[in-house]
Amino acid sequence: MTPRSIPPARTGRHTTARRSPHRARLTLAAAAAVIMLPAAALLAQHQSAGAIEDGRQVYGAVCSGCHGPDGDQIDGIDFAHGQFRRAYSDAELNQIIRLGIPGTAMPPTPVAESQAERVVAYLRSLSSSAGAAAATGNPVRGQALFDGKGACTTCHAVNGRGSPVAPDLSTIGSARRVVELERSIVDPLAEVLPQNRSYRVVTDGGETVTGRLLNQDTFTVQVIDSGGELRSFDKATLREHGFTDTPMPSFRGRLDPQELADVVSYLASLRRR
Ligand code: HEC
Ligand code: HEC
Repeated sequence: MTPRSIPPARTGRHTTARRSPHRARLTLAAAAAVIMLPAAALLAQHQSAGAIEDGRQVYGAVCSGCHGPDGDQIDGIDFAHGQFRRAYSDAELNQIIRLGIPGTAMPPTPVAESQAERVVAYLRSLSSSAGAAAATGNPVRGQALFDGKGACTTCHAVNGRGSPVAPDLSTIGSARRVVELERSIVDPLAEVLPQNRSYRVVTDGGETVTGRLLNQDTFTVQVIDSGGELRSFDKATLREHGFTDTPMPSFRGRLDPQELADVVSYLASLRRR
C-alpha cells in the first residue's frame, strides 16, 4: 500500500466549451426539446415578433453554446454583424441549420423547416438591431464608470476586484448579449436569472439579512450578506426566509445614453479567455 491514496487531480479535461463532448450531449438534448416546443407560431405566415422570439429560444438552447450569445464566438462568423463566410440566402441558412455543414463541426439540428425559418429570422434580426450600444460605447471609459460613478464594484466583482455580494461579472460578455446587458442595467427587475435572485432571512432576534443565496439544504441556508460575508443560518431558528426583489438599482436616468453605451461595451468586452 502506498500512502498516496489520494486520486490524482483530474487534468487534461476539455476546457473549450466548443469541443466538450459533455456540452455536445447537452446540445443534442436541447435540440430534442426544441422539436417539442409549442406549435403556437406554426400558423404564422410572416416572421412576426413572436416567430423571432421563438427563434431566439432555439438559438439560446441549441446554437449559443458554440456560436456564443452574440453569435461571434467562431472565427470569421459574426451573426450580430451579419458577417458570414459568404452571403447566404434564407433558404441556404435554413438548410445549414437543419443539415449542418458536413465535414465540419457544424452539426445538423433536427428541427422542422418552419422552425429553422424562425431561427433564420432571429439571425437576421440580430444583425439589424444588436451591437448598436456596444458599437458606440468606449470600453475604457466604461470601466472608469463601472469602478467610479456607477459604483458597480460595491456589489459586483470583475477579475477579483470588487464585492462578492452580486454575481461576478468577469466573463459576463461571454454569457449575455449586448441587449441583455443593457436591459440588466436600465431595467434590472425585467429578468433575473434564478441563480441570481436575492434571498432574505429574518432571524428570531429580528435581524434582517439580504444577500445572494449560496446554498441551502433541509436544515440550513447559506447567504453572502450585503457586506460580502458568508452567513449560515439554521432554518428552524428563522422567523422568515425566502426570495426577494433584486437590490440591483436601475441606472435609467443615472447614466446618460453615452455612459450607458460605455458601460455596456465594457461589460461586453469581459470574456472567457
Ligand atoms: C457543436 C457546435 C455548433 C452548434 C451547436 C451550432 N454550430 Fe453553427 N457552426 C459551427 C461551426 C464550427 C461552424 C463553422 C463550420 C465550418 O468550418 O465551415 C458553424 C457554421 C455555421 C454557419 C455558417 C456560417 C458561415 O459563415 O459559413 C451558420 C449559418 C451556423 N453555423 C448557424 C448555426 C445555428 C443557427 C445553430 C443552431 C441551430 C448552430 N449553428 C449550431 C458550430 C456549431
Ligand atoms: C446594490 C448592489 C448592486 C449595484 C450597485 C449594482 N448591481 Fe448589478 N446586480 C446586483 C444583483 C444583486 C444582481 C443579480 C440580480 C439581478 O439580475 O438583478 C445584479 C445583476 C447585474 C447584471 C446581470 C448579471 C447576469 O448574470 O445576467 C449586470 C449585467 C449588472 N448587474 C451590472 C451592473 C452594473 C454595470 C452596475 C453599475 C452601473 C451594477 N450592476 C450595480 C446588484 C448590484
